[in-house]
Amino acid sequence: MEIVSFLAFLCILIMGFQEPVHGRLLSVSKPNPGNAAATARWLVAENSWGVLNTISSELNGAPFGNVVSFSDGLPNEGKGIPYFYLTALDPTAKDAMKDERASLTLSEYPLGTCGKIDPENPTCAKLTLTGKLKIVENKSEEAQFAQKALFTKHPEMKEWPKSHKFQFFKLEIENLFLIDWFGGPKPLTPEEYLHPKMNNLHWMQ
Ligand SMILES: *[C@@H]1O[C@H](CO)[C@@H](O)[C@H](O)[C@H]1NC(C)=O
Repeated sequence: MEIVSFLAFLCILIMGFQEPVHGRLLSVSKPNPGNAAATARWLVAENSWGVLNTISSELNGAPFGNVVSFSDGLPNEGKGIPYFYLTALDPTAKDAMKDERASLTLSEYPLGTCGKIDPENPTCAKLTLTGKLKIVENKSEEAQFAQKALFTKHPEMKEWPKSHKFQFFKLEIENLFLIDWFGGPKPLTPEEYLHPKMNNLHWMQ
């Protein structure tokens, strides 16, 4: 029995698995903070929800942040572009249809890898993606990709009421604000984020 649990421990160690966090097992470890593109892609690939901020049409243009689920692809095959499944019954989609400017804010904290440090501590990575929140054209190839990406990570979306007319949206990224260490935000362009050098994404196997 002891040998079995020791072997299990060894396996966990070797495969780089982390402790299960809120019922989920993390399969990829955090990239080196010096690698901004890999860290940002890791935050987007590993998080399943975040705060999506729009310019509120109901509140006179005040910034309005809403908790949303998202996906950038199948597990371990993230492409970096966040897709959403939203209904215009909710303010976020309604706002985007009037003014596409939006940002998505993510933290490393929910992934469990920050340990006991405070979420605002710069070594607990955080990312704000700013750009345009656009509707993905119904039944397009991209809509099929979005559907697969979202429904795989969020299975209950399949059951959400048809009458609410959920549609796929994506954030077209124009700016990245990444803090993953002391010394201020890491310079990172959308191009570097979307097309990082392959060896920078070694964590994505
Ligand atoms: C796309 O689908 C949504 C949800 O069913 C619907 O509300 C919308 O009118 C459709 N858009 C077009 C252009 O057909």
